[in-house]
Parts: sequence; C-alpha cells; structure tokens
Amino acid sequence: MVILGIETTCDETAAAVVERSESGQGKILSNIVLSQNDHAAFGGVVPEIAARAHVESLDHVIRKAMADAGHNFNTIDGVAAAAGPGLIGGVIVGLTTAKAIALVNEKPLIAVNHLEAHALTARLTNGTAFPYCLFLASGGHTQIVAVRGVGDYLRLGSTLDDAIGEAFDKTAKLLGLGYPGGPQVEAEAKTGNPTRFTLPRPMHGKPNADFSLSGLKTALRLEAEKIAPINDQDVRDLCASFQQAVVDVVADRLRTGMKLFRERCGNPTALVAAGGVAANDAIRKVLHRVAFEVGSALVVPPAALCTDNGAMVAWAGAERLALGLSDTLDTPPQARWPLTSVASLAPSNVVSPKFGGRRAAAGRTE
Ligand code: KG4
Ligand code: ZN
Repeated sequence: MVILGIETTCDETAAAVVERSESGQGKILSNIVLSQNDHAAFGGVVPEIAARAHVESLDHVIRKAMADAGHNFNTIDGVAAAAGPGLIGGVIVGLTTAKAIALVNEKPLIAVNHLEAHALTARLTNGTAFPYCLFLASGGHTQIVAVRGVGDYLRLGSTLDDAIGEAFDKTAKLLGLGYPGGPQVEAEAKTGNPTRFTLPRPMHGKPNADFSLSGLKTALRLEAEKIAPINDQDVRDLCASFQQAVVDVVADRLRTGMKLFRERCGNPTALVAAGGVAANDAIRKVLHRVAFEVGSALVVPPAALCTDNGAMVAWAGAERLALGLSDTLDTPPQARWPLTSVASLAPSNVVSPKFGGRRAAAGRTE
C-alpha cells in the first residue's frame, strides 16, 4: 500500500510518500519538508502568513515528493492529510488539496489527526508493537498517552498550561533568541551553567502524570530581570538552567506516567518519544535514563521524524486504511481535535459508503 501524506497544520509545508507492506512494515519513499522562514521576525508563527505560504508552496512540495518516490497519482493507494488539530488556515489548505487529489484520481481520503501521526511514527521507524507509552512533546502539546491500538488512546497526563515546546519558544523570545526557540535554547545551553539559577520543578512528586510549565517560565523571567542587562554568558546560563529544570520535570512526570501505564494497561512494549521536543539531546538522554530505570525499551525516532513531517501523516493514513478506515470528502478541518476522540474500529466508526468513520468525532473539541 502506497500513501501520499500532506502536513500543513503549523509552519512546515510537507508531503511524503510512504509504503506499508502487508505485514505492516513501513518504508519512506520520499519526505519533503519546507520550513517557513517568514515568522522569525514575529517571534512566533503568524497563522495568516503560514496559511498563505502553504498555498504558495504545497503544490511544488507534493510534486517533488511524488517525483522523488517515483510515483504518480494513479499508482498510489490513498491520500492522507492532517485534518487537525492545528492552525485552521493551514489545515484547510492541506486537507482541501488532499480532497482534490482524492476526488480527481478516485482514491480514498484519510483525514489524519496530527497527534495520531506523531503517536504512530515509532511503528513506521521501529515497527513498535502495541501497547506502548507515548511521551508526546511538541510546540502545542505535552502528553503521556497509552497507545493501545490505532485509534485507541488513553491519556495518562497532559499539561495544565504551556506545552514544553512552547515553554522553550517563550524562553527563547524572552532572551532575544530566534524562533523556533527549542533548538536555539539547546545550542546556548550547551556552554551554560545549569546550576547557576534556582528554578522550580513544577508538579514534582504529584501522583498524576500532568505537567505545568508556566510557573517555570515566569521564574526564569524573574531571574533574568534580577540581573538585567544580561550578557551572552547570562543567556547561556539561563538557557542551561531552564533546560535542566525541564529535563528534571520530564524525568519525574515520565516515572509517574510509566507507573500509571502499568497499573492501567499492564507492561508497555516500550517508552516512545514523539514531537519536536524529542529532537533535544538533553531530553533524549533523560528518556534513556527513565527507560533504563523502569526496565523498558526506549524508541526515539530520528529527529527529522520527531518534528512535523509528511511521512508520519502518510504512515498514519496507511495504518488507518489498512484497517478499512477512510473519510468522506465532507470531512471538516478541525483546529481542536483531541487524540482521545480519534475514531477507531468501534462498529459505528467502520467506513460506510456515505460517511467515513471520523465523522463520529467531528465537532468535539479538546
Ligand atoms: O512537533 P513540532 O515540529 O510541531 C508541533 O506540532 O508543535 O514541534 C515544534 C516544537 C517547537 O516548540 C520547537 O521549539 C520544539 O518543538 N523543538 C525543540 C527542539 N527542536 C524543536 N525543543 C527543544 N529542543 C529542541 N532541539
Ligand atoms: Zn507536531
């Protein structure tokens, strides 16, 4: 099965072609990601600029993905697009394009939840079996989720305020670094002193697996204000202290998350990381530590497949289509769409000629 996947939920315009064998093995035939550079001056993604940039480049990105894969629209088996959650203008561009390709070429459309695409990436890269414990940390989401099957997700913890990536981005903005902030904060932290500033470890020891990052961000701002004006070494030390605090929080929350997983779902096959923040080396190291401590395997997809890309959308589309799940051309784009309301193989959600399964979830918000 060969699927074209389209990702336009934020500021990456991406398309990829992925093959899924009958035994469930994945192979990336092409993977084109165009990161928009139009937002740096604003210190964050401007939704309208992002949507317009997707319109301008998506056709070219898809054409290149198809050419690199050696396929055309006749030789693929379906078209998948991220239908949310995300910035609605961008989601409309990607989903409408996918609908047009599906309609004209008479191929199934698979409207993929962006979070589900992150959640299933480990199966593409490592063939990880269900159930596994997912740590999803991106610019918009921070969750610990029991992944029990395609469309079968149990949220064990999530953030009460900022996402981890968002906290990195806001820290970068506060310190005058560019956007996206995560990689810049990580680069500065490499030569900084992680113990110079005393920052809180929010939620430490709490019996649930929830996160809270906004207090940490405020504490960092207060420390920076105390020593203003800050020099380059101050920036490096602030970044290192911030990153160390995040690493400690992640370790504590994941230990609790893995405990909750075992209580509710038995032993996971692995601890799996996904989302842009998993590209961070310090976070990757702490994931190794926690997995080792709790006696679990660890799966961290390559950094390029942790950040937003089309291959993860194509793969999620392939996994769904292999189960007989597809969507109709009236499937709506959704700005909000929690992972736990993604349609699964429950009888009412199996594809019917008139309405695809995911309509069951449409309209529900996070
Ligand atoms: O998954 P992703 O590409 O897009 C979303 O769905 O949000 O994640 C982007 C987020 C941004 O907040 C970015 O700053 C963060 O991931 N990020 C990082 C690193 N690389 C990307 N955060 C920390 N360290 C990194 N190396
Ligand atoms: Zn993402």
